[in-house]
Amino acid sequence: MWLRCTSKCVFASLSRSYNNVLSRSFNIAAFMPEAAGFEGVSDRAALQEFSLSNSDHFWAAVARHRLTWISPFHTVQDCDLSRGRIKWFEGGKLNVSVNCLDRHVHTCPEKVALIWERDEPGSEVKVTYRSLLDMTCRLGNLLRRRGVKKGDCVTIYMPPCPLAVASMLACARIGAAHNVVFAGFSAEALAERIRDAQSSTVITVNQGVRGGRVIELKKTVDTAVEGCPSVKQVFVAMRTENPVVMTDRDVSMEEEMKLEDAVCEPAAMDSEDVLFLLYTSGSTGKPKGLVHTQAGYLLYALLTHRYVFSYHDGDVFGCVADIGWITGHSYSVYGPLANGGTTVLFESTPVYPNPGRYWEMVQRLRINQFYGAPTAIRLLLKYGDHWVHKYDCSTLKTLGSVGEPINTEAWEWYHRVVGDGRCPVVDTWWQTETGGICIAPRPSDPDAEIVPGMAMRPFFGMKPVLVDGEGKLLTSNNTSGPLCLAQPWPGMARTIHNNHQRFIETYCQPYPGYFFTGDGAHRSEEGYYQITGRLDDVINVSGHRLGTAEIEDVVNHCPAVAESAVIGYSHDVKGQAVYAFVVLKKEVGVPEEDLSQLLKDMVSKSIAKYACPDQIQFVQRLPKTRSGKIMRRVLRKVVEQDLGGLGDLSTLDDPAAVQEICCKKQFYS
Ligand code: WT7
Repeated sequence: MWLRCTSKCVFASLSRSYNNVLSRSFNIAAFMPEAAGFEGVSDRAALQEFSLSNSDHFWAAVARHRLTWISPFHTVQDCDLSRGRIKWFEGGKLNVSVNCLDRHVHTCPEKVALIWERDEPGSEVKVTYRSLLDMTCRLGNLLRRRGVKKGDCVTIYMPPCPLAVASMLACARIGAAHNVVFAGFSAEALAERIRDAQSSTVITVNQGVRGGRVIELKKTVDTAVEGCPSVKQVFVAMRTENPVVMTDRDVSMEEEMKLEDAVCEPAAMDSEDVLFLLYTSGSTGKPKGLVHTQAGYLLYALLTHRYVFSYHDGDVFGCVADIGWITGHSYSVYGPLANGGTTVLFESTPVYPNPGRYWEMVQRLRINQFYGAPTAIRLLLKYGDHWVHKYDCSTLKTLGSVGEPINTEAWEWYHRVVGDGRCPVVDTWWQTETGGICIAPRPSDPDAEIVPGMAMRPFFGMKPVLVDGEGKLLTSNNTSGPLCLAQPWPGMARTIHNNHQRFIETYCQPYPGYFFTGDGAHRSEEGYYQITGRLDDVINVSGHRLGTAEIEDVVNHCPAVAESAVIGYSHDVKGQAVYAFVVLKKEVGVPEEDLSQLLKDMVSKSIAKYACPDQIQFVQRLPKTRSGKIMRRVLRKVVEQDLGGLGDLSTLDDPAAVQEICCKKQFYS
């Protein structure tokens, strides 16, 4: 009895002194200065808790401390998730470009803001904060002089380059919204996005250069704008020296910029004014233009950039995503620049001129944080470790992964070979909708334990929850279900451009009171999150999000096609690849092989190359429910050769449809 009591007491006092050591070693003012005044917060766990239970207090302190305001906000948040009403920092006025540029030019004008890693290795261009501000102002003045006004939306179709960043920031400077369209999208896809955004101005380059190949981007824009009566002018920057045909509509961007003043009055924007639209795929054929606004988005991007990657002043941040995706927006542009950091714009591919490209770049640019996609890691590991070992990667401190699940083999290779076993790998889960990282291994603690392949812990102020089929909260651990976010956060998308109803139906109505992500997740015994994949008809090809309905729409447009069903199936490099089941009309009279090629070309032309089906299988009919819905779940199981997992087929209209698909081996890859 005595013994037990003593040991308990000894343990209690030991753990007390251990905790004291811990809290003494955790200096909150050094970690997050604005949190120093938070009552009762002396360690990281308490800070995380505070960010949830005193959400307004937390975000107000962070917003005041990290952003430069023209006038202060009066209300921290006014959100009602069930109605799709999301407003942050109302009453406040600020300018995003001032936050990304002017305030750093004030303190360190000659600091490098951008390192443009051009396609040709060793030809990088460094741009200081002073010269990025100069570029942005000239461009802002040019846009203004040519009639672009506050509230207009400018479409940007450019590869990653300083003028693309200056274009985004010039829009922000004068209060126009930008709509960056990934420069790998086809003319049709670009036209659809320009029309939906109602842009009258497009910014592009004469040609792109990627993997040693020249890409005719201006020509693609010419084709696109033929179908866009709203477009009045196209600004053309020169990426290569090759002249392109210029029409009356076209403006030589660099030449005109030279004539402009290098001082441009920043517009005073309301916190909730639109900063940008970014189109992404959903479960219908029509991509949705998610809307992000000024203050909340910027704040969330900068805070996640600093804490998830342990970014410190002076570090070189290397996010290799294209600026056409949200990752490029938040972690090549807005997060790093708002933090006054140095950020890399990567124009090339992971295998050009050889599979050592990333690591040679890490060595040459002395990159400290590298942020990339699992699909590239899976590709590179196949080429062998020597491509990494050739280069000195000792500057690396954190490795990030984004866009899709990272499998254990890729995670371990990334950690062991690239990170030399010493760099933490942060598997970051988020979406275009969330604006910034929501779940990541080390949002607050640079020493926390990491489990391979798990996104793990919510960021400050984030409250992930799992629900069951009826929308009831699953409270225990070791459980799986649809992943929702229970508390609003400043970085979340506010609406879908011109379609708030679709926003509400997609994100707010499935589980009232929560933001539904479309993903499923597992919460482990320890309370860590692991993403299990999409629950809707969205697939993920090489980290690019695609709606199966988008591809079906294109395939169904072929006069020979009666109907089709598209699914994603596992692919060892791409993560998922596209598989199309196609039912032809009777008596088409064209060999299936030719038709298959035709359909692939149609998809590349209408969407982008990466959307192209890897496999096309022609079938007599598709498995459908008695009410006529295509049973994609069944098709997925057939393709995965998991016939045992076909599940409940009682609603299947005609079982012969499944039998036929299983037997017919002939498909075209
Ligand atoms: C979808 C969002 C996040 C920016 C790039 C993609 C999937 C994203 C992870 C991850 C597993 C992930 C989800 C999500 N996803 N990150 N770390 N682990 N899946 O943005 O194009 O909006 O796609 O990508 O399914 O919903 P996005």
